[in-house]
Order: sequence, then structure tokens, then C-alpha cells
Amino acid sequence: MDRPRITIFDTTLRDGEQSPGCSMNVSEKLHLAQQLDRLGVDVIEAGFPIASDGDFEAVQRIAATVRRPIIAGLARACTGDVDRAWQALQGAAHPRIHVFLATSDIHLKYKLRISRERCLEQARDAVRHAKSLCSDVEFSPEDATRTDVPFLCQVVEAVIAAGATTVNIPDTVGYTMPEEYGRLIRTLREEVAGIDKVTISTHCHNDLGLAVANSLAGVQAGARQVECTINGIGERAGNASLEEIVMAMRVRPDRYPYETAVASEQLYSSSQMLAEITRVPVQPNKAITGRNAFAHEAGIHQDGILKNPLTYEIMTPQSVGVPDSRLVLGKHSGRHALALRCEQLGHHFERRELDEVYRRFVVLADRIKKVQDSHLLELIEDVSRGAVSNDDAIDSPSKKFPPATATLSFPQAISAVAGINANSNDPHPAQISGSAGQAQVRPGSPAPANWFGRAPVPPADHHSEQEDYLWGV
Ligand code: KIV
Ligand code: ZN
Repeated sequence: MDRPRITIFDTTLRDGEQSPGCSMNVSEKLHLAQQLDRLGVDVIEAGFPIASDGDFEAVQRIAATVRRPIIAGLARACTGDVDRAWQALQGAAHPRIHVFLATSDIHLKYKLRISRERCLEQARDAVRHAKSLCSDVEFSPEDATRTDVPFLCQVVEAVIAAGATTVNIPDTVGYTMPEEYGRLIRTLREEVAGIDKVTISTHCHNDLGLAVANSLAGVQAGARQVECTINGIGERAGNASLEEIVMAMRVRPDRYPYETAVASEQLYSSSQMLAEITRVPVQPNKAITGRNAFAHEAGIHQDGILKNPLTYEIMTPQSVGVPDSRLVLGKHSGRHALALRCEQLGHHFERRELDEVYRRFVVLADRIKKVQDSHLLELIEDVSRGAVSNDDAIDSPSKKFPPATATLSFPQAISAVAGINANSNDPHPAQISGSAGQAQVRPGSPAPANWFGRAPVPPADHHSEQEDYLWGV
């Protein structure tokens, strides 16, 4: 049976740009919109044309240049905004006007200072006007999750009657919980006349860290569009992260049996491009696209990954466009990873020598956190020369071993199996040599469907598994 198709509505250029420090100029927005096109998103919200001339121009240029996806322009629920949005969208192959108006009592009373009746009327009029210009109209009742539910149903019903084709349910302040948000979507589907004619959309903010969970709950309850941003950027704590939503559905089709048109191998480059443009770095432990998302330091993990990546990776780095996994040599690393790195650097050690290299390595790693190739080479040289001990030098690590920041890329043994080059961002790309480099696919070892076919690597045989544990891997 065909899986329901989820429309991915990217709002990096609109809601994302509203995050502090993330503003972009017109050509940067155009550049990113072209990448979003390559990524395969269905809708690009290109900006809020009434907000500034720059926003207007960005929407106009994106509309004229990026022809495959729907291009949306945001408008408040008033004639001036809707007209301005429509003007900016003139050149679009597939234009959408996105009208919003707050509906919660808090917003009506303190921000808009209008009654519920006035709100209902304004929403209906604005959608009707937008519909007279453009066949594709989305309406968002801002702060929907703090809106009185019967009133929300009334507004949604009115805008559908006025011609809205998508109804978006924003959790504007990131307040809702997954079960509650799912229930709200279900209630709308049960109570609102005409709801089956429109697409229901999620739009979740991350103030409690639940934007992705809430969006997925919305999809399970029947929403068929998800609004999200690259790297989860957006107002305050951000929006639901596009890469997390897409990969949750791809890695767990048993729980989320839905399709998107996103080319997941473009996720990493999209994330990097955004970080470069905005100069807002991606947090290292960011799911999917953070630099640690496929890095392994703990010895037990490195050992597992080298034997079979399935042990500690639920998706391949290549499936999201990360060129390679990385093994980071630090104090938690074990002999297995160290031996492999030595081999990558052209040094094969017999067991006793490796014991000595490892002993010194542990002392060093305890001091300098990350052991760079240059440190390791120096240490190897000492051991090879038969120097008594490196411990003296270690007492003044800043002299002999300047602070390191580099990490080591995952062996080609694994990436070669997947046909991918070493990580070009790695300051010390590994060129694996020796036995580990000759890894072959183990015959008859199936990879699970959600793991995108990366083959396991045969176990290293230079010392026993038990020894790894004894050595604190
Ligand atoms: O968070 C929000 O409510 C919005 C709307 C404008 C859709 O961004
Ligand atoms: Zn928002």
C-alpha cells in the first residue's frame, strides 16, 4: 500500500530568518532557496514581503528563479499585506499566499485588541481577498494551541469556506505536548465542516524541545504538511528541524509510514550552507547534521563501529550527505581504534609495541583531550626509538604536545564499502592502510532496511575481544 505523502514546507527563509543573528541578504536567500530546491522541499516560504523592501525583493527573485517548488509569501490578515505578497509572487510558477491572524484570547486581548467576532471576520475577509488573487491560499490561526478549541474550529471552518486550501495549526510559543497536539488535529478533523477538502499543516516551535515530537504527533493525527526549518532555526528556541522530521520518518517507517520527496543526501550540505551564510554554527551534538552526529570517541563504541557500524549508528552518514563517520582519538578511545589509526599513518605494531603505544597514548589523552596525528606520530617515534618513556614530556604537554582540536576520520575501510570519499572537512583525512583497509562485505550479512545498505566490516583479528575490554575500550 502506498504511504501517505507529507508535504515539506520549508520556512528557513521566513520564520528561520526571524531567529536572532540569522538574517540574510537577497542573494544569500536566493542561493539557499536553490539549495532547498535541490533538497526537494515542496514549499519554500521565501519571506514576508510587506516587512521590508529586501524581503519583497527576495521573494520576487526566488519566485522568478526557483520554478519547481511552491513559493509562499507571508501576509497578515489585511488587504495591504495580501496585495504586497501577491505582487512579490507575480513571477512564481506555483505561488501561495500565506495569511495569518492570531486567534488566542491572550493575543486578541493584549496584542490585537480585537474581539473574537472581529477576528473571525478579519480572517474570513483576508482569505477571501487572497483567494480572489491566487488559487493556493494557506491560513494560520497564530497561537492556535492556546486558542479556545470551539473558537478555533469556528475560525478554521470560516477560512475553509472562504477558500483556504491549507490550514496550518501553529504552536507559536512551543507550549503544546505531543499527545495534546495530536488530539487537537483530530478534533479539527472531526468537528470542522469541509476539513477533508484542505491540507492540515503542523507548525511547531521548540521552546520545550518538543517541536519535532509535536510535528510527528500531528502527522500521526492526520496532518499532511509539516512546516520546518534547516537546523531548526527560528524564533527563540527555533522551529521543528527539517532534517530530524525527514530522518525520523525514514529511519522509523514502522512508526511513521509516510513519504517525503526530500533527497536526504542533501541534508548535510543544506545545513552547512545555512551555517556558512548566517555564520551561526550548528551545535556539535545536533541530531543528523551536527559534527558529532557520526563521531565516536568511546572505545567500546569505536570497537563496535569497526566491527559493524550497526552497533552504534541507526543510519549511515552517507544517507544524510555526511561523507564519513569519524573516530575521535581521546581518553575514552580503545586499542582497536588506536591501532587502526597507527596503521592509517603507516605504522603497524606487534602486540607488545602496541601495548606501549597505547599506554603512552592514554596518559597523553588524559591531558590534551584530543590526540592529533602529529601527537600520535611523535609518540610512535618515541616508542620506535625505544625512548624510555614519554611521561616526562607529558608533564609539560604544552611544549611537546600543543593543544589539539582535530578529529580523525572514520576508516576508508568502511566508507570504501559505501563508495564514498573521506570527509573533506576533516583537517586530517585518513588514508587507511594495512589490513583494516582491505575490509570486505561479509558474505550473507544482511543490513536492515532502515540502515540504507551499508555493509558490516569484518572484525579485526589482531587481539581478542576480551583484551579490548581489559584495555578499557
Ligand atoms: O509561529 C507562528 O505562529 C507563525 C505563523 C506566522 C505561521 O510563524
Ligand atoms: Zn512560527
